[in-house]
Amino acid sequence: MTPTIERDEREYDVVVIGAGGAGIRAAIEAKMQGARTALVCKSLFGKAHTVMAEGGIAAALRNVWKEDGWDVHFRDTMRGGKLLNSWRMAQLHAQEAPERVLELEEWGAMFDRTPDGLILQRDFGGHRYARPAHVGDRTGLEMIRTLQHKAVELGIDVLMECTITKLLLDDGHPSGAFGYWRQSGRFILIRAKAIVLATGGAGKAWRITSNSWEYTGDGMAMALESGADLVDMEFVQFHPTGMVWPASVRGVLVTEGVRGDGGTLKNSRGERFMFRYIPEFFKAETADNEAEADGWYENKKDNRRTPDLLPRDEVARAINAEVKAGRGSPHGGVFLDIASRRTPGFIQSRLPSMYHQFKELADIDITTEAMEVGPTCHYFMGGVRVDPETEASTVAGIFAAGEVAGGMHGANRLGGNSLSDLLVFGRRAGLGAALYAAGQRAPGAVDEHEVEEAARRMVAPLERGASLTGAPTPEAEDPYRIHSDLQTTMQDLVGIIRTGSELEEAVRRIGALRERLDRVAVKGGRRYNPGWNLALDLRSLLTVAEAVTRAAAMRTESRGGHTRDDFPNPDAQWATRNVIVRMRDRQLALATEPLAAPPPELQRILSGEPAKTEPAIESTVPTPAGGFR
Ligand code: FUM
Repeated sequence: MTPTIERDEREYDVVVIGAGGAGIRAAIEAKMQGARTALVCKSLFGKAHTVMAEGGIAAALRNVWKEDGWDVHFRDTMRGGKLLNSWRMAQLHAQEAPERVLELEEWGAMFDRTPDGLILQRDFGGHRYARPAHVGDRTGLEMIRTLQHKAVELGIDVLMECTITKLLLDDGHPSGAFGYWRQSGRFILIRAKAIVLATGGAGKAWRITSNSWEYTGDGMAMALESGADLVDMEFVQFHPTGMVWPASVRGVLVTEGVRGDGGTLKNSRGERFMFRYIPEFFKAETADNEAEADGWYENKKDNRRTPDLLPRDEVARAINAEVKAGRGSPHGGVFLDIASRRTPGFIQSRLPSMYHQFKELADIDITTEAMEVGPTCHYFMGGVRVDPETEASTVAGIFAAGEVAGGMHGANRLGGNSLSDLLVFGRRAGLGAALYAAGQRAPGAVDEHEVEEAARRMVAPLERGASLTGAPTPEAEDPYRIHSDLQTTMQDLVGIIRTGSELEEAVRRIGALRERLDRVAVKGGRRYNPGWNLALDLRSLLTVAEAVTRAAAMRTESRGGHTRDDFPNPDAQWATRNVIVRMRDRQLALATEPLAAPPPELQRILSGEPAKTEPAIESTVPTPAGGFR
């Protein structure tokens, strides 16, 4: 059929959608395998949520603690995830992270150093030993810079300011991805044999978030529409420390590195309140008084760790409880104080971005004053369900890596495990996609009716806007208002503490927002029109918001990043069950499925025994059978 929709057209073996750490690493791998590879970037190349992982890349390098190892990292990750993780992903992650960090260093990343010249590691929540390798408090930025450089060196085609709105399939195999250039508004069809989704999460569904405008759940929504499964969507991470003041920067991240390097949390009475919130699960390894915690800060040996460095879900809930009890800071957070423990020189050299961030945005000098901080929506543990080895989704030819994928982190992610996840599974996804593409003669055929339908849907808000004269009518919905109402709904009803009746109310409100979206009208043309761009993003935001809310309503217990007021405890029946979300007949359908138990040798590691053998790390990757056609 002759194309009727005017568009740019490109053809590749592999298209990677999303250019944060996972996307770039996947594209590098696919390209190194010989695949013709495109990397699609919704924003400018280098602008990614990856840079919000400031404090480090978790990897058992053993540079600071010889006692560390992949087995301890695996155990910490599983415990942090409340044992709901895909054990195989957690194992691969712990085993391969050190090699990925060293590779990043080889590609030019300039890590901070120990006195004897090794990559320095710092303390982070839930990690038994100082583990995240870092570059001050700009680790994600350094990672992106390094990967970007490598991608450019390899000659990967980068399609910037390009938003993909639909994946196209032909008889169950990819034919490509359809979307538009933000600058010109012109449509683009990227034909490809394999697709890697690396679009991150959907933090922009909440009002207080560390995410920027790009994070609207596009990959999760497109995966659902293509027939793929999502898993663990109820688990959303609220990072305990975001800025709370001034209001214009509320939610901007304050790295966990502040607490890793000595910062402590205090309430309005000056109390180190975290001692009151140590859960049974972590009692054995957590100091329960200030003297012991201070001892740990000073010599780190043999002492139990400070409760300021409990996993993020525990700390976020504790801060929430302190504020609710009326012991919060003037602007509704708590205090984070590093000035009492560390010298100005130490703070400025270890945490230069935090120093400047507070100085410039809040007129606070963190070398002499405490910061005001509170929870901020930061990360999705849930996402596209993938095969641990290849990151293949449940739809042939579609792969997913990084925050858009679920399983690795279970019910709660440990800080620093995101950057290592991006590297380990980004590489595996790129390899998986390249191998898949090598087995396909050509991209699937493009169904022109499907492209026409996608294009019609996209221009509809502009067509409605063109018929508007003067002031908006009640029939013409404003995308910004819909977005704001969604953020209010998610912030108020699907936040850190949830309850059944509020979740039901949220589902009802999201349904009403969906009806309003059908009437959204935007004035102007397709050329750089942020109102139109948002109108298109809202479809994914609403789909993902509904998936989170309904999954949260289904899980009638509290675990990790999902806390129910009406079911305040973990429930053994849910300990080994995942909630799966699918789309059938354009409706979301939810089910639960049992989670596979780890094999005996990993069970032994989980109960505290060391690993018997070191993993055989692959340092080379196979060439795709048959090469590329
Ligand atoms: O606090 C931080 O630096 C964030 C790290 C992460 O999300 O992994």
